[in-house]
Amino acid sequence: MRFKKVWDNPRQEIPHETQDHCNNLVDLAIKNGINHFETAYGYIKSETVFGRTLNDELKIDRSSYHLMTKGNPQTAEETRKLVEEQLKTLKTDYFDFYAWHGINTDELVQASCKTGGPVEELLKMKEEGIIQHVGFSTHGPLGVIQNAINTDLFEFVNLHYYYFYQRNEAAVKLAQKKDMGVFIISPNDKGGQLYKAPEKIKKAIPHATPIQWNARFCLSNPAIHTLSFGMTEMAHFEEMKGIFPSSIPLNDNDQKAKYKLDQMVHDDPYAAIDSWHLEEDPSDMDIPLLLHWRKLWKCYDLLDFAKYRYKELKTPNHWVPGVFATPEAIDKIDFSKVPSDLPLREMLTEVHKTLYQPPVEFNLLNPKKITLAK
Ligand SMILES: NC(=O)c1ccc[n+]([C@@H]2O[C@H](COP(=O)([O-])OP(=O)(O)OC[C@H]3O[C@@H](n4cnc5c(N)ncnc54)[C@H](OP(=O)(O)O)[C@@H]3O)[C@@H](O)[C@H]2O)c1
Repeated sequence: MRFKKVWDNPRQEIPHETQDHCNNLVDLAIKNGINHFETAYGYIKSETVFGRTLNDELKIDRSSYHLMTKGNPQTAEETRKLVEEQLKTLKTDYFDFYAWHGINTDELVQASCKTGGPVEELLKMKEEGIIQHVGFSTHGPLGVIQNAINTDLFEFVNLHYYYFYQRNEAAVKLAQKKDMGVFIISPNDKGGQLYKAPEKIKKAIPHATPIQWNARFCLSNPAIHTLSFGMTEMAHFEEMKGIFPSSIPLNDNDQKAKYKLDQMVHDDPYAAIDSWHLEEDPSDMDIPLLLHWRKLWKCYDLLDFAKYRYKELKTPNHWVPGVFATPEAIDKIDFSKVPSDLPLREMLTEVHKTLYQPPVEFNLLNPKKITLAK
């Protein structure tokens, strides 16, 4: 999903720079021991460019790598049609892994897993040998992930779990109990924009880069099998090689860094208070997630990252749950559930004031003049 111009339509037209980017990265990946490529129908040109690179440009032996793709078809018929198109685009006759893309709500658990529905069709394709393993990807809340796992229809899950977001640990444990594959998505970017980590974090990890340390943190959990990095250049491979040998448990230096980072939660008087029970609130805010971003800002100097995530609430959608902490939303909170020692109103007011960035409006008549929307 990170290849140059990959998000531009039309999906079948591949600019030279996109193809070259993919060719170079896949070549480097194979040479550096990477044997798992992941794409999705939703990443516009990605499947087409991968199909050409793997089969026409580099002619990589199909049995030497695992291929995962994703899709979110709504019916059984649509599922078969989509998977057949994806096989053609990726120039293969089977997928090692196919994930229903984005089971982010309980409604989507129901819709994808209903009798005669999309996941059932994927499982038929598994019996036919077209797909080897059926799983799902998710950005959803913990309860939704657990519900999806508990359908017992899936063999693997793609989810967010990193040092700076450990909320899904219970889902990782549940997946382990069910002997599922656990695949971590976006460890460097959604994991805290670790490629531009603040000095405070870097100082706590003198022996490695924050990216390397977080990868080792994830891999030290025996329930986690795969990390998916969105590498875009040579230097990324050099950095990622620095995570090995990953050790279980973490080595002394890694442990020391973890201890220092764990202590930082006390740099703010409220950051250590667990508020996950406030997840379902009439205000429609995802209060625990807002407080989590606040903690990253207050304790770890991850202000830019918190702003980057907060901005995503602009258009309510199931990929990023909740709404902005506006005064109107704060007034709707069910305060009876809020611990008495937590000044939640003040905290959320400050979160909105600090993290909200007004959208920039361009004046089409005078492009040089930019006004800030209210
Ligand atoms: N909807 C979903 O289910 C969903 C959402 C997110 C991700 N994912 C999956 O997870 C995969 C990885 O996500 P991601 O692309 O966000 O990965 P990531 O590795 O967390 O972030 C990639 C970005 O980090 C930067 N970076 C800096 N140092 C790096 C290093 N050493 N290695 C890798 N990247 C480095 C790169 O920035 P520059 O390009 O600026 O150099 C790149 O844009 C995606 O391919 C996608 O399939 C899925």
